[in-house]
Amino acid sequence: MLRVAVIGVGRMGRVHARNLYNGKVRGARLAAVCDTDPAVLEYAAKRFPKAERFDSTEKLVASGAVDAVVVATPHYAHPDIAVACINAGLHTLVEKPLAVTASEAERIIAAAKARPELTVAVMFNQRTNPLYARARRLVQGGGIGEVQRASYIITDWYRSQAYYDQGGWRATLDGEGGGTLINQCIHQLDLIGWILGSPRAVEVKMFIKNRDITTENDVTALFDYGDGVYLSFAASTHELRGINRLEIAGTKGRILVDGLRMKVYTYPESEQQVNAETKSGYGFVTRKVRRYSHVAGFAFGFLRGGQQLNIVRNFAGAILRGEELISPVGDGLAAVELINAMYLSGWSGLRQSVPVPEAVYDEILARKRAEEKARSGR
Ligand SMILES: NC(=O)c1ccc[n+]([C@@H]2O[C@H](COP(=O)([O-])OP(=O)(O)OC[C@H]3O[C@@H](n4cnc5c(N)ncnc54)[C@H](O)[C@@H]3O)[C@@H](O)[C@H]2O)c1
Repeated sequence: MLRVAVIGVGRMGRVHARNLYNGKVRGARLAAVCDTDPAVLEYAAKRFPKAERFDSTEKLVASGAVDAVVVATPHYAHPDIAVACINAGLHTLVEKPLAVTASEAERIIAAAKARPELTVAVMFNQRTNPLYARARRLVQGGGIGEVQRASYIITDWYRSQAYYDQGGWRATLDGEGGGTLINQCIHQLDLIGWILGSPRAVEVKMFIKNRDITTENDVTALFDYGDGVYLSFAASTHELRGINRLEIAGTKGRILVDGLRMKVYTYPESEQQVNAETKSGYGFVTRKVRRYSHVAGFAFGFLRGGQQLNIVRNFAGAILRGEELISPVGDGLAAVELINAMYLSGWSGLRQSVPVPEAVYDEILARKRAEEKARSGR
């Protein structure tokens, strides 16, 4: 039986701990929890009585009580904890984002490379949504021809002032390294890279709208893929009744994922062929179009314990049965690089290549964290 610890037993860590404790991950059990907050350890003693409790990663690692860990602490703590666990020979699953900066993400990836016998992964649970997996297969298999244009609108992560007033590390540069981009949108930014690859450059406008916070809750961006191919990106956490819509237009088809619904249109001839042959001035090729539509059921959703459970199961399956990882640790870097470039573009008002020089980003982030601290008087 794989003995797993959850490190950081807050909002998300509790979900992982419950799933492991309740036997929802085949071949694995919750053997320990680790949290720096004594109140959390008290809660864990009642809720998970059979799990050992630790107040630091060092003590957990030294105990030999576990074979694997799930790291679910606030973002800045991920690299030190993950590297300590990997170096101690523990299989390690890190919550998103892998790290706040590309340089720190690379530190985890380097530690993992030095221990190839270990399974090291990152929590990109949206990859287990079958709609995005299908979109990826279509794009990468040439199913919609050459991609011409894409857009992604994500305005359904509503967060009120009451959410931010809970305090703590949320929506601060010093606490989490950014706002909606690094906290919520990292999932979609990973999906963009997973399906379409990384853009060459980004141009970003970001704002704080209607909230008393220090990091962005409203972003509009252009991702440049070269040869006139752009993805337009819009995300906010302050709009009521928001939407979540990904559209990818290719020369031989179109993909639309709108919430839980997916529509795919594929054309037997490319637009260039249609254009070369048609005598009509208008593009009515609909008779020849193949349509596919799909509504994602709860197969990946809450009834089964949440998408995050799929990743924990896959992590355990990779360790115990050699399953292929859905989100290996190396995949954690691209989304962080993209986010770093987006912040640099938002702060500077300039287009930025992806990735941006790490030393430059690290220095500017450190300066901005210090300014934020000075303003808040913390
Ligand atoms: N995959 C998802 O869909 C999803 C959803 C929510 C949160 N998350 C991620 O989970 C992580 C935690 O978020 P949360 O909302 O649960 O935060 P939280 O603040 O509710 O919980 C964090 C916990 O970590 C503990 N902690 C802090 N520093 C620690 C350390 N050095 N060692 C041990 N414990 C420590 C805190 O005491 C707290 O109990 C973040 O990376 C977040 O982005 C992922």
